[in-house]
Amino acid sequence: MSQATRTVRADELNPGMVIEEVTELSFDYASLDEKSLKFLKNAFKGAKAVLVGGDGVKTVAVEELKLYDSLQSILSISPSSKIATVVEGMGAAMEKYGLLEFKVSQSGKSAPAVHTAPKTEGEAIPIGSQAAKKRFEVKKEEVKKFLASMEKAVSSREQSNLTVEEMLDNGRQGKFSSKGVEKMVEEILDEGATPAMKAIAGLRGSDQTYAHCTDMSVILQECYVDILGRGGRDPSPATRRFALIAGFMHDIGKSEVPKDILESTDRFSPDSQEMILMRNHTTYGSRILSDMGMPNVTINVAHYHHVKTETTLLTSYPKVSYAEVLPLTRLASITDVYQALIGKRRYKKSWVPGKAIEYLIQLEGSEFDARVLKQFIDAMGRYPLGSLVRLSTNTLAFVMEMAPIEHAGRPIVAVVENADGELLTNHTLLDLMVEADLTITEVVDHYQHFSKTEDQAFNIFKSIRVA
Ligand SMILES: [Fe+2]
Ligand SMILES: [Fe+2]
Repeated sequence: MSQATRTVRADELNPGMVIEEVTELSFDYASLDEKSLKFLKNAFKGAKAVLVGGDGVKTVAVEELKLYDSLQSILSISPSSKIATVVEGMGAAMEKYGLLEFKVSQSGKSAPAVHTAPKTEGEAIPIGSQAAKKRFEVKKEEVKKFLASMEKAVSSREQSNLTVEEMLDNGRQGKFSSKGVEKMVEEILDEGATPAMKAIAGLRGSDQTYAHCTDMSVILQECYVDILGRGGRDPSPATRRFALIAGFMHDIGKSEVPKDILESTDRFSPDSQEMILMRNHTTYGSRILSDMGMPNVTINVAHYHHVKTETTLLTSYPKVSYAEVLPLTRLASITDVYQALIGKRRYKKSWVPGKAIEYLIQLEGSEFDARVLKQFIDAMGRYPLGSLVRLSTNTLAFVMEMAPIEHAGRPIVAVVENADGELLTNHTLLDLMVEADLTITEVVDHYQHFSKTEDQAFNIFKSIRVA
């Protein structure tokens, strides 16, 4: 006899359970591609799909799903469907397909589910092991490539800022077009400039609205791709492209806010006319992108990137249910705040990435979807690329490559200052996964520490060479 329903994660699916609904899907389903459509129509024949659109949430038959639809959940799965009854090893397969959480009836065997697929990049690597040394050799080559792309990334970032400025200026004259941004996105992706651009965002800060859009979108795309990759998926060029475009255009509605309000140094009161206009950039943005015929997910990002988990908060707008906020938008709202912290504003200086991560962790649950925040932090690393850290030997080093997720405090670093406070010209690359005795003791504010010129920290970072 059927028991009461309950909600389980993919790895808690046990043989004998009956799946009635899929309550959470991975990011891929935020904009359906042909492959996902085919899979859904085959696996969930007869079920109902819950979609998020520009005009709210609606339910359609799975057979009616279309390209670029944003799927939120799947209901009314027939017990006779081949996917309904859980069999051995199905949890891992479900996770691979991006089906993450389920409403099930019948408890199934009490034995824990068999994990047939690793959940992250593979088995955990022990610190100081032979496997750690092997990993370091591979990563060293990646660091070299990354350093070689720095100059190009600097000019790509400048070019991007100009393109965003142009897009907003044209918008002020009622001429909206995504052509410039789309062309630029192609170039950035062709050059593979996004990882270095992400590091530069944290090392140089920036006080322009345009750089906010550039940096935010690069960080959004990098995290999104990382999250998909961890789920065992290989993000297509189209996926990278739409994440970048969604980021570049998230504040397009600001083109309808008068420049003197946008650039004002005044702090407006929450109910002032100026603040109301500022907040409207989200609804303006959604309308502009709908008129341009952009995909649903891009519109959702522009419309809802200021909606908080607690929708009653004064800082949460527009007033909609959190259920309407797509996963990519939830990630975008975190990236938006993160960039605001590491970027400069007229009323505050830039935070360093490591401090911004610490701050975001405190907001978990009240402002951000806790699960997405965890994915963001896993993707950025506890010490993001370009962070300046003090090691237990009292030397200072820049983070050059992320740590494995299960040892988040052990990235690959390049030592730039010795224990006597002397700048080094020969930089040693150290992998804290290999150097078992070394630890990070603190995050150092690179702007404060290297303050000779505004770009001193960045120039030192750029000069690092790996033998
Ligand atoms: Fe915004
Ligand atoms: Fe923004």
